[in-house]
Amino acid sequence: MGKAALRWRIGQHEDAEALREHPAIREAARMLREGKLVAFPTETVYGLGADARSEEAVSRIFTAKGRPGDNPLIVHIGHVSRLQDLVAELPTKGELLVRRFWPGPLTLVLPHKGTVAPKVTAGLDTVGVRMPSHPVALALLQESGLPVAAPSANRSGRPSPTEADHVWEDLGGEIDGLLDAGPTGVGLESTVVDVTGSVPLLLRPGGVTLEELRETVGEVRVDPALEGDAHPPRSPGMKYRHYAPKGEMWLVEGSGEALVHRIRELADHARKAGRRVGILTTEENRFRYKADRVVACGRRAEPESVARDLYRALREMDRAGVDYILAETFPAEGLFRSVMNRLYKAAGGRVFRADDQCPKGSSS
Ligand code: TXA
Ligand code: MG
Repeated sequence: MGKAALRWRIGQHEDAEALREHPAIREAARMLREGKLVAFPTETVYGLGADARSEEAVSRIFTAKGRPGDNPLIVHIGHVSRLQDLVAELPTKGELLVRRFWPGPLTLVLPHKGTVAPKVTAGLDTVGVRMPSHPVALALLQESGLPVAAPSANRSGRPSPTEADHVWEDLGGEIDGLLDAGPTGVGLESTVVDVTGSVPLLLRPGGVTLEELRETVGEVRVDPALEGDAHPPRSPGMKYRHYAPKGEMWLVEGSGEALVHRIRELADHARKAGRRVGILTTEENRFRYKADRVVACGRRAEPESVARDLYRALREMDRAGVDYILAETFPAEGLFRSVMNRLYKAAGGRVFRADDQCPKGSSS
């Protein structure tokens, strides 16, 4: 591109309709129509948007992120009615989910009509679609009049961006524009549900919980790949190790006092072995550890706060230059199921079980 990206700051609490008049939204929408890359906030994480109908614009997303071409993108729409441009039909259960959760952090996988660029769907016969609730995202989508393909606006392998600075850090040199509306609200990506079969299938836990999905449509199956099963995942993105911290990361199972004691013991052991240790904890326990860096993400008593702060905390770990990270775990229910899914990936599946006798991993 050869030209620095434009960065626009936008106030956080305006409604979408009013925002459509905003000069930054106007310009960003025009850039999308010209096939350019524009990063924008959603209620989950920042997205890297391009015209979903343009093979050329979509290719640039993959290049900018360094993203494998077999990992399909989510298409974002600004009105529920635009769904009919993309998919042939909406099954009843899909309709129930749309009614309850759109606009919001839920992506539905549906059979597509061939109207988006083949690169968006990575050649699959389905497409993932969502209508975000962030006013800036809605204004941009409505003003552009386009279906917008947008993965999270991070370099592939980095934590998803929950602040504009994270986007700038990862992709500042690769994009044409960035709409900065401050930190995002949910902090984790949308929940992805395949509604092409008779029973909806959860492919990625996110901002909408499994419990909420079941309240709405009854039975929902969980992709066995999410349960640590050996099956190849159906959602292509789930097979990649999403975030590999620079340090070797371990999750520590347990709860209450036992968890804190275990982490203290493992941290001491590792520090004695000469490692620079980071501990990922919550506000409740942050003053109970001694390590080279202790990072608190949210409050254990408020799962939403942990979700909102998780990716920022992981980025902080990287900046701290620690080479060994011990992370507290959470009971995998509700929003914590999504948090645990991301933690598990970040740790590459390394877990100290509650009943492991010795800290064998710390010296390996
Ligand atoms: O919250 C979000 O969903 C954010 C914001 C920007 O909207 N976007 C996001 O996109 O997380 P991305 O590309 O980082 O993740 C998309 C996920 C991947 O796991 C991908 O494999 C899956 O959705 N996906 C997309 N289309 C699919 C399809 N047709 N079938 C199965 N999985 C699909
Ligand atoms: Mg992503």
